[in-house]
Order: sequence, then C-alpha cells, then structure tokens
Amino acid sequence: MHRPIIETSDVCFAYHDGKPVLTGISLSILHEDSVGFIGPNGAGKSTLLMCFNGLLKPTSGTVRVDGLPVVEANLKEVRRKVGWMAQDSNDQLFMPTLFEDVAFGPLNLGLAREEVLSRVEDAFRQVGLSGFADRAPSHLSGGERKAAAIATVLSMRPEILLLDEPTNDLDHASRRALIDLLKRLPVTRVVASHDLEMILELCRRVILFDQGRIVAEGPTAEVLGNETLLRAHRLESPLSLALRR
Ligand SMILES: Nc1ncnc2c1ncn2[C@@H]1O[C@H](COP(=O)(O)OP(=O)(O)OP(=O)(O)O)[C@@H](O)[C@H]1O
Ligand SMILES: [Mg+2]
Repeated sequence: MHRPIIETSDVCFAYHDGKPVLTGISLSILHEDSVGFIGPNGAGKSTLLMCFNGLLKPTSGTVRVDGLPVVEANLKEVRRKVGWMAQDSNDQLFMPTLFEDVAFGPLNLGLAREEVLSRVEDAFRQVGLSGFADRAPSHLSGGERKAAAIATVLSMRPEILLLDEPTNDLDHASRRALIDLLKRLPVTRVVASHDLEMILELCRRVILFDQGRIVAEGPTAEVLGNETLLRAHRLESPLSLALRR
C-alpha cells in the first residue's frame, strides 16, 4: 500500500458558469487504500471524483492514475482501471434491461461471451440482485437501482472504485451487505458520503472538503472524532465514535 495510485496536483475546476468549484486540490491516494471524501453539500466531492476518471477535465492542474495522466489519449486505459459509481444511479442505467447495463462495460472491453456472462452473474450476486437481469431499470425501487449501478461498476473488475454516496437509499441489510462486500474487495476505494458511520467502518483515511478546498485529512477516527472541526463544516461526529470514548 505504498505506491500512490491516484495523484492530483493543484487541480482547479469550474463548470460552465465559471464559478470556482475546486481550488488547488493536491492529494495522493495509495494503492489498495480506502479513503473517505467528506464535506458539506456543494463542497466539490462529486466533482473531484469525476475528474479522477476523466469525465470532467480540470480547468488547470493534473490528475494521474497509476502514473498515467488523465487526458483524452489515455481515457480508455484510465476507465479500465477506474470504476465510477455516480451519486445519481439514473445517470448510470440507460439500457432497456439490467442485464444489458451490467454487461455493457465488459462487452466494450471485447471480452468473450462466456467471460461477460460470468462477470454479469457475479456482479448481480455480489449486490444481491440475482434474478433481476431481465428487469427494466425504470421499474426498480431506489435502493435496487443503487445496487444495480454498483453491479455495472463491479462487472468491470476495476482496480480502483470511486463510489459516490453508495449507501443512499439502501435498506439496513443491503447497506450492511455492501459495506461487507467493499471491505473484502482488494482494490483501492474512494468513497464520498454523508454516511459517516459507513466511512468510519470502511475507510482508513478521510479527506474533509469545503468550498472546493481540502480543509483536513488524516486517519478516519482522528478526523471524525474532532467535533469542533466537523461542526465548523456542517458535519457531526458519528454517534458510535462518541460512544467509544
Ligand atoms: N453541472 C453543474 N453545473 C454548474 N454547477 C454545478 C454542476 N454540478 C455541480 N455544480 C456545483 O458545483 C459545486 C460542487 O458540487 P458537487 O456536486 O461536487 O458537491 P458535493 O460535495 O458532491 O455535494 P453533495 O454532498 O451535495 O453531494 C456546487 O456548488 C454545485 O452547485
Ligand atoms: Mg456529491
């Protein structure tokens, strides 16, 4: 876990309206580490995740994935390594059936049909959606859509998982199953979330963002245990951490 796998240097970003959303983000995420992105609404967490897989292009600064600059010429290779799950699952499910959505990525990699089928089956099983292959995404509950969106990422077997609010909409048992699954996967995980209990359980380190800047970073329990810091950024220490003291 000593080699950086995602590195950003002085990343700035603005959407079309020109308002700065990310300002001078420099960070390094280690291979197979598990890192939580926390911060108030609008802090820039989702925007930064999208810069990691080249969906958004920084206005200035650089992003590297496994040493590779995230630029147009490298996007295919970057996206093979980096699986991104959108905050809104509707952005990720666009085919008539879930099978087609989950098979879409592996088919694009040019994998043999048998390999695609086995990956799709595995991904459905991992998220508890076996038997859902023929369902239409629009006919699912919010939590089922979230699980399906995660399956579309897992079927690519990425080295790096970027998960944006993965536990939103999940019932207790599905949330627990997802956390346990993510703990077991031997990949790099970057998780943006307001579910700080999940972050506490899953992440070794956290980075706290506010107004497009990094305001704190460190070992998870240390940052999440700093109530003054969290309150200053519209967050609250997880209850279980307070009970531990
Ligand atoms: N497509 C867009 N066009 C213009 N501004 C945008 C767009 N998407 C996001 N923003 C703005 O960028 C800023 C950062 O948004 P972002 O979604 O990255 O925040 P976030 O930290 O993920 O918030 P949340 O906790 O609510 O998910 C916000 O001020 C938001 O209004
Ligand atoms: Mg977000």
